[in-house]
Amino acid sequence: MELDGKVAIVTGSGRGLGLGYARALAAAGAVVVVNDLDPAVVRAAVDDITKAGGTATGVPAAVGDTPAAERLVGAAVRDFGRLDVLVTNAGILRDRVLWKMTDDDFDEVVRVHLRGTFTCARAAAIRMREQGDGGRLILVGSPAGQRGNFGQTNYAAAKAGIAAMARTWALELAKARITVNAVVPVAATEMTRTIPAFAPVIEESERTGRPLPAWVRRDAGLGTVDDVTGLVTFLASDAAAGVTGQAIGIGGDRLALWSHPAEKTVAFTDGGWTAEAIAAQWPAGIGAEPETYGIPAPPVPES
Ligand SMILES: NC(=O)c1ccc[n+]([C@@H]2O[C@H](COP(=O)([O-])OP(=O)(O)OC[C@H]3O[C@@H](n4cnc5c(N)ncnc54)[C@H](O)[C@@H]3O)[C@@H](O)[C@H]2O)c1
Repeated sequence: MELDGKVAIVTGSGRGLGLGYARALAAAGAVVVVNDLDPAVVRAAVDDITKAGGTATGVPAAVGDTPAAERLVGAAVRDFGRLDVLVTNAGILRDRVLWKMTDDDFDEVVRVHLRGTFTCARAAAIRMREQGDGGRLILVGSPAGQRGNFGQTNYAAAKAGIAAMARTWALELAKARITVNAVVPVAATEMTRTIPAFAPVIEESERTGRPLPAWVRRDAGLGTVDDVTGLVTFLASDAAAGVTGQAIGIGGDRLALWSHPAEKTVAFTDGGWTAEAIAAQWPAGIGAEPETYGIPAPPVPES
């Protein structure tokens, strides 16, 4: 896939999936603005991309507030003259069950993921609209945001909000030919390697050099960072000019289009619904097949 002449920002690209996206975009010909918290980590990522024959510049900054977003877009324009692609990947976890989650746990996760996506996308959209020749906003969701997940009040709320922003911005930016999609990735990184169902197979795969087993790659849709990057490169490319407003899952051998929330069953009554009428209608009516919630447990095979 050809991205020559395109300029991309990837937030949180010092390691993990973000570094994978930055490397893949650079390998396809884009020039990349690398961002992360630690200047030494940013420098190492820029060196890594440069050694592989790519072009990158680094902006250490804590994504969340407007000045960081403006510094990132400013660096793309100052160093490379324009901005074509933004990948809002930076993220943290502060997992706790609801009754133990502190205000700081909630605010910090929302600040980096939800506010960081908003401030960076707004700065990018302003620049792309000025340029007048389209663009790509590639947001990062999560299965937790699509379904809810135990211990992840803050993270699930932020990621669900990001999917909602993708649909909203796809509407608002359509006329400017700026596409907006949410990637819903799953990959073995520092963030996921400690999930109990996956930890032993990831460790064995790394120790032996053998690929993850098919039940992990296909059924659980979990693989390596490199398994995920192709979707971001595709979305950044001219081939994806008509793809917008979508939440797209990728991981291991799996590529999926997520459904958007829609009314599943509907009932009507003349004059509106009383509590008693809803209670009578519910069991055999719209409540007969309730929706699932939570990420299904991985299909661990019998050993
Ligand atoms: N790994 C998965 O399976 C998975 C699944 C769903 C969603 N995601 C999402 O993908 C993204 C990357 O995840 P990962 O697994 O590579 O995680 P990771 O922890 O390996 O990498 C995240 C990077 O973001 C950086 N970062 C954190 N806060 C930042 C901030 N305020 N400003 C700039 N950089 C910041 C970190 O320093 C780190 O380098 C996250 O948004 C995550 O929620 C990952």
